Amino acid sequence: MESSEISRDLTTVLVTEEQIQEKLVELAARIDADYVGKDLLLVGVLKGAVMVMADLSRALTSHVSIDWMAVSSYGAGTKSSGVVQIRKDLDSDLTDRHVLIVEDIIDSGLTLSWLLENFASRGAASIEVCALLRKPEAAKVEIDCKYVGFDIPTDFVVGYGLDFNERYRNLRDVAVLAPHVYA
Ligand code: XMP
Ligand code: MG
Repeated sequence: MESSEISRDLTTVLVTEEQIQEKLVELAARIDADYVGKDLLLVGVLKGAVMVMADLSRALTSHVSIDWMAVSSYGAGTKSSGVVQIRKDLDSDLTDRHVLIVEDIIDSGLTLSWLLENFASRGAASIEVCALLRKPEAAKVEIDCKYVGFDIPTDFVVGYGLDFNERYRNLRDVAVLAPHVYA
């Protein structure tokens, strides 16, 4: 898969490129069916969700709009601070819109629970969540996520949009980051 320089930083490949693409096609078919006759607004959470958004949106067959939000709940470490800050707000007005939040990963759930509350206060007609990955054992708050790709262990993972200190986002697979990288 990756160059040997990068693969030294990884322990295990958790989800391969092929598994991701297959799963996104499956999720897209469900989303297409669930939103028939509705105008859907996909909201990607930067930067991690860029790859998921690119592949999920192209697997959909209906009309969608795409918008982006940048929030930060993470510093340079690997643990959620729970403090969410808007770095870039949406361009769209959410009033009466059907919104699907597209996320790379749900870890503690703190970022999403904050986002869900924030979006609800803007008058959206409906708000659902699609996350490629979820770490069930790391949950600090319960998130009602309608479309989940894969449940994974609590290890810190990188690739397919997910980073550690802005690196590894360009890996095609999702892999566990070797502890020596962040220890
Ligand atoms: P919470 O804990 O609020 O985290 O659900 C949400 C955001 O934290 C990032 N995150 C990760 N990024 N590998 C990463 O590269 C991980 O294992 C990981 N866990 C959480 C991610 O941006 C997510 O949206
Ligand atoms: Mg993210």
